[in-house]
Order: sequence, then structure tokens, then C-alpha cells
Amino acid sequence: MNFQEPVIIGTSPAIQKVLQIARKVSSLDLNVLITGESGVGKELIARTLHYHSNRRNRPFVKVNSAALPSELLESELFGYEKGAFTGADRTKSGKFEQAKEGAIFLDEIGELPNYTQSKLLQVLQDREYYRVGGHAPQEVKARIIAATNQDLDAEITANNFRADLFYRLSTISIHVPPLRERKEDILSLVEYFNNYLQEVKNLPKRDLPSDLIELFHQYHWPGNVRELVNYLQRHSVFGNSQEIKEAMQANLNRAGNGNNGYLMDEPQQHNSGHDFIHDQEIIKNFDPDNGHFPSLKEVRDQVVKRVEKNIIEKVLLDSNWNRKVAARTLKISYRALLYKMKDMDIHQSRR
Ligand SMILES: Nc1ncnc2c1ncn2[C@@H]1O[C@H](COP(=O)(O)OP(=O)(O)OP(=O)(O)O)[C@@H](O)[C@H]1O
Ligand SMILES: [Mg+2]
Repeated sequence: MNFQEPVIIGTSPAIQKVLQIARKVSSLDLNVLITGESGVGKELIARTLHYHSNRRNRPFVKVNSAALPSELLESELFGYEKGAFTGADRTKSGKFEQAKEGAIFLDEIGELPNYTQSKLLQVLQDREYYRVGGHAPQEVKARIIAATNQDLDAEITANNFRADLFYRLSTISIHVPPLRERKEDILSLVEYFNNYLQEVKNLPKRDLPSDLIELFHQYHWPGNVRELVNYLQRHSVFGNSQEIKEAMQANLNRAGNGNNGYLMDEPQQHNSGHDFIHDQEIIKNFDPDNGHFPSLKEVRDQVVKRVEKNIIEKVLLDSNWNRKVAARTLKISYRALLYKMKDMDIHQSRR
């Protein structure tokens, strides 16, 4: 197995300190909890830890705790025996078994349902588990690396997360600071990802206008590096920096910062008008001569996603960011909502 060393861009003291800690603890066989806002690079740090550990040539297995309903999560983690339930027509290994002597990366640990939390705690205490429907104990050999973008202290106080599990997982904890606290890294990230988009993704090369770069330094980056990469990708495809400024302005407004006046030259568009303008931009950019000619499907996906995103944000706002209530209103499952929020980079802005 060839596990690549993750590329982590950034010379800021903040990110360098994180890397230093990650390297230092990588060889210690302790559970590590990585915390930080969405899109800061927690998974990259988890992979860095694994790369520098002596388990490097063993598997690194990722489990997204938010992606599956609790009934499926247990068999996903621990596997199941043939006949354990209807449809279990063969024995299947779980993630712990697949990770072998490598590492198991439990992402979004804060979203773990209560039942699975208890189960996991027990497994970590006993260092063994049973496949669903199984009777032979299986030894836990993998190292546990967990990550969360939630404030677990608050979740513990609200009785949503078990304190005893938290202590088990966080023998060592590493906090990855948000991008707004290390703005020195923005330029090198822009340069790195623009190169990447051109050379690996074959997207057209476009220089960012200096005013956009300037805004990048004033912005609060609720979606952190992932949000930055999204903008760079959009800029490369559509070459429209105004559209990106509007997206940033909308986030700023949502954060309650008001219109600081520096993000847009034009008066703010009314919401319905905004989408019309946006559509005109897409049509204008649908131009075979400008290098990248998007397929109709790409365009459709973009438009559908944007409308969905607007609606989800509105419903979340109306429900005071109560995601359970919002999911009910949208008539989708709670987990489907979490998935969409992550996919579409929707987050409650900082108060
Ligand atoms: N310092 C960095 N250098 C290079 N790429 C980075 C850096 N930080 C983040 N990224 C990139 O940003 C994206 C988000 O990173 P990652 O998935 O590790 O974040 P995360 O903290 O796990 O986010 P989430 O909480 O949403 O799962 C990825 O494409 C990752 O490669
Ligand atoms: Mg992640």
C-alpha cells in the first residue's frame, strides 16, 4: 500500500504549530481527536498523522459518522455475520476489521447517534467487539483518530455527547485554527490550488483580479479552505469574480456584519433579481470560445444546487438553525440534511 504524504500548504505560525504537534504525536500509539471548523483541513491532519506513524503501510480507513443512519452504522463499523438480519446473505467485515493494524478515522464524531456512542465506548474500553449477529470477539488493532467540527464541550453539556467517550477519544487533541486566524496562508493556498486546477483538473488559467485577492484578506471564511477552493474553481470555470464577491457578501450579511461597503461596488441585488442576474451570467459564460465549455448537465447541476442551497439556507434560518426542524420542513431525513449542508458548504455563521 502506498499512502501519500498529504500536501499541507501554509507557513503561518498557527498551521506550522499544528503540523509540529501532529508529527510529534504521530509515532505515539494514542487516540487523537482533531477539532476545528468545517473545511479547515482536519482530514489532512489525520492523514499526516498516519503518514508519519509506523502504521503508514497499513490501511487508513475513513468512516463518516454523519452519513449513515444508526442502524447501518453499527454494521458498517463492526461488520455482520451471515444471517444476522434479513438481507445479510454473507458475512461482511466492518471498518474496524478493514483497518487492521492501521488507523480508523472517525469523521464527524459529534454526529454519532447516542446508541453508537455507547457501543463505541464499550469497544474502546474492551479493545474488542463483535460483528453484528456474531459471537466471536474480534480484537481492535487499529489506532483511532477522530475528528469533529462541533464544540464537544457544549454537546456534552447539552447531553448530546458522552463525556466518557470524549475522554477516551481525546487522549491527545489537536485544534486546527480557522483560516481567518491565519490569513498569511491565503496567498500560498491560492497559488497552490490555481496550479492544481490548471495542471491536474485542466481548467483554464485565469489570474485573480487584485481586488478579489484583497477581499480574500478581509473576509471571515466561514467555510475555511474548502470555501476558498470552491471560489477558485468557480473563478477558473466562469472567470466571473463579481459572482464570487456576491457570494462572499451574502455570507457576510448572514453573519450579521451588515454591508461593510467594501465587498460590492453596486447596490445589493434583491434576492429574486439576484438569481436572474446569476442566470444571465451562466448563459453569458456558456461560450465555447472561452476555453472551458460546460456541458448542459454541469449547468443544470449548478443551477439546481444553487436553488436547493438557497431554500435550505432559508429554512434553516427560519428554524433558528434547528436542523431537526428544518429537515422535517424540507421533508428529508436529518442525515440527508447534514449531508447536503456539508456538500453545499452551508453553515451557521459566527455570531
Ligand atoms: N493547509 C492546507 N493545504 C492544502 N489544502 C488544504 C489545506 N487545508 C485544507 N485543504 C483542502 O481543503 C479541503 C478541506 O479539507 P479537509 O477535508 O481536510 O477539511 P475538514 O476539516 O475535514 O472539513 P470538514 O469538517 O468539512 O470535514 C480539502 O480539499 C483539503 O485538501
Ligand atoms: Mg472532514
